[in-house]
Amino acid sequence: MPYQVVIPAAGQGKRMGAGKNKLLLELDGVPVLIHTLQVFEADENCSGVILAVNEQDEKEFDSLLKKYAIRKVVNIVRGGSERQYSIYNGIKVIQSNEIVLVHDGARPFIDKDQIHSLVLAAEKYGASVLAVPVKDTVKKVREQKVIETVERSSLWAIQTPQAFRMPLLRQAYELAEEAGFLGTDDASLVERIGHDVIIVEGNYDNIKITTPEDLFFAETIIRKRRSMIKR
Ligand code: CTP
Ligand code: MG
Repeated sequence: MPYQVVIPAAGQGKRMGAGKNKLLLELDGVPVLIHTLQVFEADENCSGVILAVNEQDEKEFDSLLKKYAIRKVVNIVRGGSERQYSIYNGIKVIQSNEIVLVHDGARPFIDKDQIHSLVLAAEKYGASVLAVPVKDTVKKVREQKVIETVERSSLWAIQTPQAFRMPLLRQAYELAEEAGFLGTDDASLVERIGHDVIIVEGNYDNIKITTPEDLFFAETIIRKRRSMIKR
């Protein structure tokens, strides 16, 4: 089942505090963004990647795409001031009605099997997201006082990719813009227009590289994967 993927890569990486876009930081000698792109490069079902990039990073990203022979990036669009705006710029250039995925450049450990399950679910239901059960107990707090303990069995931590039928995603983004709605993920734009979003159980490895300690977790995930291949 062919799909295209929009990859937002136009953040500032403020929480990482590296003084540059965190996607340029290296894991095992390879930039984070390249790890992410290599997964889609190797997936025969991926028919194109649309990358949202900041003006100041464009040259460096361009030369990395050449260096690592990434050929599936069919379009590079400008990033916006918010993740949602970066993605919307990507959605606007898509012509085909194939399934569209949105995947954070900062999640390098996504794998092909999970993408496949997600795309199948989006085909069937219109919208699907990868998610894992929450391990911690989660409480609602106001002014340092616990208000409520949320029942954990109904809580899922939502990841990317998120997959959509294109007309639905386009409509959800248009209506969000009209209403000035800013969501923290793409599925929330679809939820707010009353469409069901289906959960596909993902993997705890699919972390988002966000703060400095994530770089250590990431190196450990790489080592774990290597040892599993050897066995
Ligand atoms: N992103 C984007 N445009 C923005 C903000 C974020 O394309 N205006 C991208 C990031 O590059 C990243 C993904 O969206 O791949 C998830 O965002 P996040 O993890 O928050 O990255 P940053 O915004 O770069 O980090 P921070 O919030 O710490 O500044
Ligand atoms: Mg951010």
